[in-house]
Amino acid sequence: MKYIIGSLIAFMFLCGNLHGQVLSVKELSCEHKINPVGLGVSQPRLSWKLEAEGRGVMQTAYEIRVATEPTFAPVQMVWSSGKVMSDASVLQPYSGEALKSGQRYYWQVRVWDNKGKVSPWSLTSYWEMGLINASDWSAKWIEREGDTLRYAPSPYFRKEFLIDRQIAKAVVYVTSHGFYEMHLNGKKVGDEVLTPGWTAYGKRLQYQAYDVTTMLTVGKNAVGAVLGDGWYRGTLAWGDKWAIYGKRLGLLMQLQITYADGTEVRVVTDESWKTNQNGAIVMNDIYNGETYDATKKLIGWDIPEYDDSLWQPVRIGHYPFNLVASEGLPIRKLEEIKPVSIFRSPKGSLLVDMGQNMVGWVRLNVAGAQGTKIVLRHAEVLDKYGELYTDNLRSAKCQLTYTLAGTGEEVYEPRFTFMGFRYVEVIGFPDTLTTDDITGIVVCSDMQQTGSFECSDSLLNQLQHNIVWGQKGNFVDIPTDCPQRDERLGWTGDAQAFCRTAAFNFDVSAFFTKWLKDIALEQCLNGSIPHVIPNVLDPQGSSTTTPSAGWGDVAVIAPWTMYTVYGDKGLLERQYPSMKAWVEYIREKAGDGLIWKGGSIFGDWLFYRAPMKKHTQPDGHTDHDFIATAFYAYSTRLLAESAKELGKHEDAAFYGDLYAKIRNVFMHEYITPAGRIGTNSQTSYVLALMFDLVSDNQRDASAKFLVEDIRSRGNHLSTGFLGTPFLCHVLSNIGYTDVAYDLLLQKTYPSWLYPVTMGATTIWERWDGLKPDSTFQDAGMNSFNHYAYGAIGDWMYRVVAGLETQTPGYRQLLLQPHPTKKMIYATATFDSPYGKTLSGWERKDGKVIVHVVVPANAKAKVVIPVGDTLAVTENGRKLLEINEVSNIQKTADETIFEIGSGSYDFEYDEP
Ligand code: BGC
Repeated sequence: MKYIIGSLIAFMFLCGNLHGQVLSVKELSCEHKINPVGLGVSQPRLSWKLEAEGRGVMQTAYEIRVATEPTFAPVQMVWSSGKVMSDASVLQPYSGEALKSGQRYYWQVRVWDNKGKVSPWSLTSYWEMGLINASDWSAKWIEREGDTLRYAPSPYFRKEFLIDRQIAKAVVYVTSHGFYEMHLNGKKVGDEVLTPGWTAYGKRLQYQAYDVTTMLTVGKNAVGAVLGDGWYRGTLAWGDKWAIYGKRLGLLMQLQITYADGTEVRVVTDESWKTNQNGAIVMNDIYNGETYDATKKLIGWDIPEYDDSLWQPVRIGHYPFNLVASEGLPIRKLEEIKPVSIFRSPKGSLLVDMGQNMVGWVRLNVAGAQGTKIVLRHAEVLDKYGELYTDNLRSAKCQLTYTLAGTGEEVYEPRFTFMGFRYVEVIGFPDTLTTDDITGIVVCSDMQQTGSFECSDSLLNQLQHNIVWGQKGNFVDIPTDCPQRDERLGWTGDAQAFCRTAAFNFDVSAFFTKWLKDIALEQCLNGSIPHVIPNVLDPQGSSTTTPSAGWGDVAVIAPWTMYTVYGDKGLLERQYPSMKAWVEYIREKAGDGLIWKGGSIFGDWLFYRAPMKKHTQPDGHTDHDFIATAFYAYSTRLLAESAKELGKHEDAAFYGDLYAKIRNVFMHEYITPAGRIGTNSQTSYVLALMFDLVSDNQRDASAKFLVEDIRSRGNHLSTGFLGTPFLCHVLSNIGYTDVAYDLLLQKTYPSWLYPVTMGATTIWERWDGLKPDSTFQDAGMNSFNHYAYGAIGDWMYRVVAGLETQTPGYRQLLLQPHPTKKMIYATATFDSPYGKTLSGWERKDGKVIVHVVVPANAKAKVVIPVGDTLAVTENGRKLLEINEVSNIQKTADETIFEIGSGSYDFEYDEP
């Protein structure tokens, strides 16, 4: 009987499968993370995605259960939501009893759908709380007496302890002043690097939590850590500054062990630890590299019974409590790259080409005589003679020096530095260097890839590749301007320009959750926003920081963008006071005149300037007060929208009204009756049109002036950091998508593809970093890995492929591909909060096929660029005949309709 029932269930399951009847829940996440350990959120929010075959599937109800053990037995249950009649599947708050520090919580969810099905309980996920109260900490800061010097050797700390019973669980909570690498019984703890990451250290410092249950043994154990200068003490910002946060490195660690019998013990950093500074890491610095003398390696320092009799006692440091659980994404070694060639330069240098401008470091495999010294110099490019070019690194040395121990095969990787490079010069290698001896280790925040863009144009595909690599190289815990020279700072304008593109390529929800909090914390008392976050240019956070429009506006634009992409209202609510304070700062500065005079320092940074001999061509200069006032209007409008979303009705009305007033003044001040805008630069038109600062009856005329300018330059742009991200959007919004395509596909300078034709593998800081004659732009400002101009990626996803959202979080998609005869196909995918989404088009045999995929529990509006609704078919069926298609409408040149989840291929004759 049992067998028959079993077979019957299997049969029913199979039938369900065959008929697209299966409903399940997948990809559970907690506060944007999968199974986080060391969570610092008191009411975590839970998300899941539906897996459903067939079309038009919506969730109608869900049930969540949470327990302290994965068996979900009644005594272990801490919360059950019961069956909640709701289609919400993103960021639903845990609403059970108060959560306990260090406790792991297991959870499952099941859902009901609109087809009458119920899913099985999902696979079990968990989150584990960190140490949420200051009183949970009994560890003390330990430091090394006298360790206050620049470029000092790395200090080591160690302690041994006994475990006398079987362990049920052990978790270590650790952080440091400077970088730490923690060890337990001879092994590195965890796979994160450059820990504890970078926050506004003066205000908050992240700790990491690692489950180390399997790393401990009954008997003697050894725990230890080695520290590096990092962002805390190392060189930071130009001008040879160092020790911005402090001169003393320090370690804080708390190991909590729960025995099988339920008793608990702690091993914490305190007076009982010992320290040494005579190890192999002789010097380490983010900008300048690492010097490692393997003859000084402390062998066995991290295992029990090591003779530490010559080690010194530690000193205890006293600091105000500022610890927070890790919010961002762990930084990890994510990829390994093999060199594409090893060769001698004309002058005889031994050079390695990694084939990709990358960020991280190399691993060296070497054997040779004791004391042999190898120097590795890193650079992004070669000069026109084929020699390593390091001038653009400015003062950053980006150099590794390794002295061999002479013990046979040696493997070296630095740990407290990182470099942005494609080429490595190897000096002093004791043998013939082969590709087996050197490996590129790509280091960045461990972001889940969520998007892809691909098309029939190989140069555009390379551009997309370059954008992605620009992001990988510059998302190392904070969004940086560049990863190689003496800067690598959280420049706000760059992040503002690029954040929407970033959020297509990778899941940056947790990454920005963290960084946005630092923005709010570093905001000056008067609401001004520093140029870089964390604010190392003015670490005391004085209220006199003069902001720059388009940079400071990150405080409004980035939270709004994250809300748009992830639908995270909590984030918007949390950032709201900071957003408002920024707008209030400008309101105070602009006064009743509503023109923000002196509000822009950087202008439309790095816009195209005509060379002297071409002085007949206007350069792309845009008036600074114009820029400042345009961004004032934009941030005010986004603030009003945010207030509306958050139900702050008074603010919504007030800032909506303020926006309308700024708009009026702006039009009066900057737009001529004929529709000329500002300095007549492309960026003038772009900002005014993008921020809706042009009246309806002037829009067409202004649009024509913009297009005229682009055409007069032979389809070239002239925009800088502020105009570029919006340029193609504006063109497609005003009906000139063809002009936008001409710009996008332009191969000569200035354009997005010019660097691609010059062999770029990342996005350049300047349109002409490397000139056609192979000379370089000014070395003082010439990074080959700056993501800002990569903001075009957003237009490629949203307009070329047509993958857009109508509502925050991609609940209601807007799929509106823009086919062009200049290409054969283009497709974008995006793993939205609801699941895999696709939008794209393909021209084939006189037809255009529009491919779209809508995840379960989401809907889409589809816009097909053909005015005849009857001309659009799917599998030979007219739209009207397709069940899941509804609300069909048309305009002169578009067919618009709605669809539910599923995969569709619409087709029409190519006009
Ligand atoms: C950075 C930029 C930044 C700019 C401000 C530069 O040094 O690299 O990307 O936005 O300064 O103008």
